[in-house]
Amino acid sequence: MKPAESFSALRVYETDGTARAAVEPVTVEDLSPGEVLVRVEWSSLNYKDALAVTGRGRILRGSPRIPGVDLAGHVVASSDTRFSSGDAVIATGYELGMSHDGGLADYARVPADWVVPLPAGLSLLEAMQLGTAGFTAGLAISRLEQLDLAPGNGPVVVTGASGGVSVVVIDQLAALGYEVVAITSKADQVDALRSLGSAEVLLRADLEMGRKPLEKARFAAAFDSVGGETLAWLTRVMQQRGLIAAYGNASGTDLLTTVFPFILRGVALVGIDSAATAPCRSDCASGSAWPLTSSRVTWRACATRSGWIRWWRPARPWSKADTAAAAWCAWPGAEGRLFRIMRLCHMDPARHAHPAEGPDLRRRSSGPGALGHPAA
Ligand SMILES: NC(=O)c1ccc[n+]([C@@H]2O[C@H](COP(=O)([O-])OP(=O)(O)OC[C@H]3O[C@@H](n4cnc5c(N)ncnc54)[C@H](OP(=O)(O)O)[C@@H]3O)[C@@H](O)[C@H]2O)c1
Repeated sequence: MKPAESFSALRVYETDGTARAAVEPVTVEDLSPGEVLVRVEWSSLNYKDALAVTGRGRILRGSPRIPGVDLAGHVVASSDTRFSSGDAVIATGYELGMSHDGGLADYARVPADWVVPLPAGLSLLEAMQLGTAGFTAGLAISRLEQLDLAPGNGPVVVTGASGGVSVVVIDQLAALGYEVVAITSKADQVDALRSLGSAEVLLRADLEMGRKPLEKARFAAAFDSVGGETLAWLTRVMQQRGLIAAYGNASGTDLLTTVFPFILRGVALVGIDSAATAPCRSDCASGSAWPLTSSRVTWRACATRSGWIRWWRPARPWSKADTAAAAWCAWPGAEGRLFRIMRLCHMDPARHAHPAEGPDLRRRSSGPGALGHPAA
């Protein structure tokens, strides 16, 4: 396989704190260096990408820079012996789409340590339908299962339930047999969250959070995308040896709680950082076991756990953040730019219509557009 001499990339130029994005021709030599040259088939659009493209967050370092914090595609060439031409691979996190050119281009050069083989049971498209959000969800579950979380431990609560990460957490937990309690602010998403596999859906506005250092113990585990007051409440309502995976701060970054949940109930608060998850231990080349929470094993787990969500989600993973990304990318009068960005993400709905097969689709899904995701 040979790379095209010149190909398309979305590049962001930053001058005097102002970002300007343009789709333009580049060559392989223009890309950040890396041992593995990948023909990018798919890249999911993330909140970070929106911040990068619009210059609203200090995401990109270096100018011009190609955004896109994840990608899936085929290896074109590799100077690292772990990968060969034609291999299907995924790359997420690290500095991809930040200080290193990312996935919103036809090709990317990626350091070999950031690359994982596409696991059996997942297509390149499905990998990016899950995307960084799905990978984060899979990682959070693996981290807590490593700490002995099991379906028999008791109910598991998921906050920010309609969000990009949490919907995959719910989908995977349900597939694994957990009793899931979803918390959302959106009354119109209750049915969809039940369809996704939640045993119970609570509206955030109805929650009585209380103020005691320890409230009635309710949950064996929690998956939190919200932070702030909600995370503080979660620490107070965990059962003995309860486990909390904190992966987001949608409502705030402060955490006001006491030590009592930790020393009287043995609660463990585990931070999830998907961006710095190593593919494997440094000795993995010698064939030793993969750690459970390596990115390689996490992707494999995602491939086996993710159920029906793969069948009804649109051709790309829409979430509130994605919608914001699309909106932010669509500067007034610049529909062409949005189109090109979407095309770079390979979001062509005609080419990737929802497959009709999948019995769970009919049984459990409220269909494309559920959970407030606009149809592609
Ligand atoms: N740690 C990591 O490696 C990692 C990776 C990816 C993302 N993240 C972070 O994880 C979080 C979720 O990401 P996402 O992609 O799922 O975002 P998202 O699609 O925007 O979802 C966030 C959800 O949080 C809830 N929410 C929003 N504002 C809130 C508020 N003020 N108070 C309480 N709940 C609120 C909403 O759900 P409901 O309306 O259903 O309550 C919303 O859908 C973000 O903070 C993101 O930066 C972290």
